[in-house]
Amino acid sequence: MKVIVPPLKSQGIKTKFVPWIFELVKTINPKGKWIEPFLGTGVVAFNSGFPKAILNDVNPHIITFYKGILDGTITPQIVKKFLEEEGKKLSRANENGYEYYKIVRTRFNKNHSPLDFLFLSRTGFNGMMRFSQKGDWNIPFCKKPNRFAPAYVTKITNQVRKIQSVLKRDWVFHNTGFEKIIPMATKDDILYCDPPYFGRYVDYYNGWTEKDEELLYALLASTPAKFILSTWHHNNYRENDMIKKFWNKFTIITKDHFYHSGGKIENRNSIVEALVFNFDAESMAKHNHSVMPKIINNQLNIFMPGEDSFIKQRPLVSR
Ligand SMILES: C[S@@+](CC[C@H](N)C(=O)[O-])C[C@H]1O[C@@H](n2cnc3c(N)ncnc32)[C@H](O)[C@@H]1O
Repeated sequence: MKVIVPPLKSQGIKTKFVPWIFELVKTINPKGKWIEPFLGTGVVAFNSGFPKAILNDVNPHIITFYKGILDGTITPQIVKKFLEEEGKKLSRANENGYEYYKIVRTRFNKNHSPLDFLFLSRTGFNGMMRFSQKGDWNIPFCKKPNRFAPAYVTKITNQVRKIQSVLKRDWVFHNTGFEKIIPMATKDDILYCDPPYFGRYVDYYNGWTEKDEELLYALLASTPAKFILSTWHHNNYRENDMIKKFWNKFTIITKDHFYHSGGKIENRNSIVEALVFNFDAESMAKHNHSVMPKIINNQLNIFMPGEDSFIKQRPLVSR
C-alpha cells in the first residue's frame, strides 16, 4: 500500500500503521461512513478512501487547515508561493533563521493563520506539534534556516495537492470533543479512534485523564458501529493499565514500534502498539512483536523478560 502522507506533522502521526489499520478494516469492508473523532494530521482518514466521512479534532488549527483545502481557500499554488516567500525570509534572518521563526510564531499565536500553522509544523523541531497551557505554539525551531529549499517546498506542495485530490465533498469536519462525535455513528459506519495515550505526553489539546478513557470506553462499548481503537499496550518498563481496566473485553492485536527521541542509538525506544476492536478478524496476525508468545490454557500469555508478570489476552494464535 502506498501511503498518502499529509502536509502537517506531529509526534503521534500513524503513518507507519496505516497499512496495518486498513488490513484490519478490509476484513469487514464497512458500507457506511469513516468516522474519526481524533483526526490529528489526518494520515489515517486520507488513506481511507471512504466516500463519506466525519472528521473531528479538538484542535481548531488542524480542522481550519483541512477545511481550507476542502473549500479551496488553501490550494497547492497558494502554499507554494507562501512557502517560497516565507522560506526566503527565514533563510536571510539573523540567529540562523531563528529570528524569523519567532516572528511567524508570534504572528500565528495572534492570528491563527492556517498557512502560518503549516510553516510552524514544517520548521518545528522533529516535526512535533505542541501547544502551551495558553494555547500558543510551543515547539522550538528546527535550526535549519534553509528549511524551505525548492525540493522541500515542492514536496509539501505535492502533499497539499494529494490531500486536495482525496478530500471528498461528503467529508464533514468538526471541531469539538470526541463525546459529541461518537454518538453520530450508525451500524454500517466504522469509527477509528486514536486518542492521546493515557499516561504519556500532554499539552493544551492533548490532556487525557482516566475519566476521558472511561468515557471513551462507555461510548465505544455501546456504539452500534464497528470501532478500532489505537492505543499502546506496553513498553520495556510498564503495561498500559487501561488495557486491563477497559479494553481487554474486546479483541486486541499488537505490533512493535521503534522510535527515536534524538539521534543517539541509546535513545532508541520500543513500544508495543495495539489495535482494539469490536469485531472478528480471524485473518489478522494477532501478534508480531518480539516478545515470544506462549499458548497456555487457550490464552495467550506474553512473558515480559525481566518481569514476573504476564499480560493476558483473549485466545489468540500467533502467526
Ligand atoms: C494521537 S493524536 C491523533 C493522531 C492521528 N491519528 C495521526 O495519525 O496524526 C490525538 C488527537 O486527538 C486530539 N484530541 C485530544 N483530546 C481530544 C478530545 N477530547 N476530543 C477530540 N479530539 C481530541 C488531539 O488534538 C490530537 O490531534
